[in-house]
Amino acid sequence: MTSWQPGSPQDLNPCLSRILFLLALLLTSAHGISSNLEECLVLQSPEGSTVSCHRVTKFPSPLPADTVHLSVEFSNLTELPARALERCQRLRELHLSSNRLQELSSGLLTPVSGLRVLDLTHNELRGLPLGLFRASAALHTLVLRANQLQNVSALWLWGLRSLEHLDLAENELRVLPDGLVLSLISLSTLDLGYNLLETLPTSLLMGPRRLQRLHLEGNRLRRLGFGMLALQPFLRVLFLNDNRLTEVVPSAFQSLRELDMLDLSNNSLSSTPPGLWASLGRPARDMQDGFDLSHNPWVCNEDLQDLYRWLRANKHKMFSKNDTRCEGPEALRGRRLLDVAELESL
Ligand SMILES: *[C@@H]1O[C@H](CO)[C@@H](O)[C@H](O)[C@H]1NC(C)=O
Ligand SMILES: *[C@@H]1O[C@H](CO)[C@@H](O)[C@H](O)[C@H]1NC(C)=O
Ligand SMILES: *[C@@H]1O[C@H](CO)[C@@H](O)[C@H](O)[C@H]1NC(C)=O
Ligand SMILES: *[C@@H]1O[C@H](CO)[C@@H](O)[C@H](O)[C@H]1NC(C)=O
Repeated sequence: MTSWQPGSPQDLNPCLSRILFLLALLLTSAHGISSNLEECLVLQSPEGSTVSCHRVTKFPSPLPADTVHLSVEFSNLTELPARALERCQRLRELHLSSNRLQELSSGLLTPVSGLRVLDLTHNELRGLPLGLFRASAALHTLVLRANQLQNVSALWLWGLRSLEHLDLAENELRVLPDGLVLSLISLSTLDLGYNLLETLPTSLLMGPRRLQRLHLEGNRLRRLGFGMLALQPFLRVLFLNDNRLTEVVPSAFQSLRELDMLDLSNNSLSSTPPGLWASLGRPARDMQDGFDLSHNPWVCNEDLQDLYRWLRANKHKMFSKNDTRCEGPEALRGRRLLDVAELESL
């Protein structure tokens, strides 16, 4: 007969570990009512905590009070609690891409006045609540790419005076309001690519002191007039490719003093008017990052003399030379535009 010995490790261990197990269960379930932070990766550093959650079923809570960077992505979340960020007043970056958010509550960002980056790529937003950014004077990057915005109000963005980067690409925008970026004095990049825009208000670019990059590619623009670009003489990069442009007015680029990159590829341009190119590239300056005129139905007749001259001077910066060809007249059909331009000088 074996005697029971209180001190025996063989017997005590299972007993103790069972108690500990039950205790642990009790503790986690008490805690677990609201906590699902354990599904996330939390990294601590002297600046504060970084919390990254991928494929979670709920917004993490409670968040460490020193959270500076929070990502809750690829989780198909359909809503955020209105007070989700209440505890993390030091938050600087919030990444919420690839969820299914349809709306945000107007007070969501009020506690996080130091927020610098908000990324909402790939959600299902149809609008933003008025006042969402009332405390967001520090925000410098706002990404609303790949949502379902059909219109946007200048009032949504009112007061984002530090905003440098606004991305509204891949939405369903058909028209834009006058003064969309009027209060965004620091804006340097505006991305409106891959929407359904057919026209643009002349005052679209009024507001920013020094816009540098403008993305308008992948829309349905037919005409580029004078006026809109005149408001931003320091523009450096302009994407107008993959539109339906048939006309660019002679003065359209007249005010651009620093353009380094121009993409007009994949439009419906058969000609460009005399004077259009005078301010761009040589002899005025060098178009440092190049230009693309490919995949347009160029009609290579005497109306292109001005463009030919400009092409010869700037050919070292020309992209897609092989895909920039004449569609007419019949005798030149399929010839490279640059080759025709060079022959013209002989
Ligand atoms: C989110 O939805 C997509 C598409 O239905 C699915 O493939 C993916 O597994 C879902 N992710 C999660 C974390 O539920
Ligand atoms: C956007 O369009 C919808 C319907 O087309 C309309 O109800 C809503 O008021 C518009 N919002 C703004 C900000 O213009
Ligand atoms: C031209 O643009 C259209 C419309 O955006 C797009 O569907 C097509 O793929 C583009 N073609 C090329 C050669 O890039
Ligand atoms: C240019 O296009 C022709 C066919 O039109 C092709 O034979 C040639 O390889 C292409 N050159 C380059 C550099 O792509």
